[in-house]
Amino acid sequence: MSKIILRAVVVDRQVYVRNKRKCNYFTLSLFALSYIVYVKYALDPNFSLTKWNWNDDISCYLDTNDNLSTITAFNPTGRSIFFNDPTCNVRIFNPKDACSIESAARAHWNWPVYVLFNSPVSKEELKKNDVLKVLMKLPNIKFARVNIEEFSMGTPAEGFVSSGVLNDTVCPIALTGGLVKYLTLYKWGGIFMDKDFIVTKSLSSLPRNWVPKSDDQSIGSGILAISKEGRSIAEAALRLLIKHHKNLDCANGENVMAKIVEQECSTPNPISNAAISCNGFEIYGPQFFYPIESQRVMEYSEPGELQGYETAYTYYLWSKMRIGTGIKKRIGSRYSKLTRKHCPAIYNAFAYKF
Ligand SMILES: *[C@@H]1O[C@H](CO)[C@@H](O)[C@H](O)[C@H]1NC(C)=O
Ligand SMILES: *[C@@H]1O[C@H](CO)[C@@H](O)[C@H](O)[C@H]1NC(C)=O
Repeated sequence: MSKIILRAVVVDRQVYVRNKRKCNYFTLSLFALSYIVYVKYALDPNFSLTKWNWNDDISCYLDTNDNLSTITAFNPTGRSIFFNDPTCNVRIFNPKDACSIESAARAHWNWPVYVLFNSPVSKEELKKNDVLKVLMKLPNIKFARVNIEEFSMGTPAEGFVSSGVLNDTVCPIALTGGLVKYLTLYKWGGIFMDKDFIVTKSLSSLPRNWVPKSDDQSIGSGILAISKEGRSIAEAALRLLIKHHKNLDCANGENVMAKIVEQECSTPNPISNAAISCNGFEIYGPQFFYPIESQRVMEYSEPGELQGYETAYTYYLWSKMRIGTGIKKRIGSRYSKLTRKHCPAIYNAFAYKF
């Protein structure tokens, strides 16, 4: 009798332990899942709980509820600066990006600064988007729409885009960003830049074709100029981008200019820090556009002034750095002072984010 009872107790205990373990696994998986959701949310502002899509969302590219004119209607000249927002969510356009655009506009009052949107921007959005509203007040900033299918027609990228590759590729947003960049330069020439720069002085005295090095070893194509006469460079870049689109670095975007420089330059790896010329194409040392190396990016958050960078035309903020996105206030930092000086309208509207 006592044996049976004992056995029942033992069995009960086993069931209890098994259930408890199950429960732990369940809690653990739930925890892991929420962690994944959290990380994805924190890193990717496009994330949506109802739409579990690990690819970038580009469903907006062909939408038409748009209050922007197409860039083609503006017919830009080669004395233009271009930015691109290839995402589908204009609401995440943040003050840090806007600061970059404002700084370019202030350093070039007599140049138009075009901000190209791949998504439609509706009249309601223009009315309520606090970041875009600040930018719209600057007279030389112009918002324009790019419909990537239309935009690539009659260019070397036409067949590639119309074949639907963007629908299938792993990182369509990075790929579209690259396509828009080189298509724009192919069509009109000008300066194209990322939203991670702060422009501190005018680029208008520079020659028409250049690309900087981001450090001693690498070409940084986050900012570059190609003239209409240098169209063959833009075309070569487009073709390279298309040819190697499967190897695109989704996080950092394309860097086809590195390959082009290698092809064009008789010195394949221009070591010199000063500007050197390759076939009429200038290669600038990192001190001109990337004066603070990526490893030293935290120096922007330190208090004080940035000194000793008089040769620089821009500062690069290294996109992984989440300054200016409201995560942490750094009042009085070098970054804060830099933005107050070079993008005062955005700084004043969103000071709490710098
Ligand atoms: C944008 O909206 C304004 C105001 O309704 C209108 O006058 C303008 O034509 C629209 N522009 C485009 C390109 O749709
Ligand atoms: C890409 O997908 C969208 C939506 O499914 C579709 O409307 C569009 O035609 C596709 N594009 C191409 C070029 O196949």
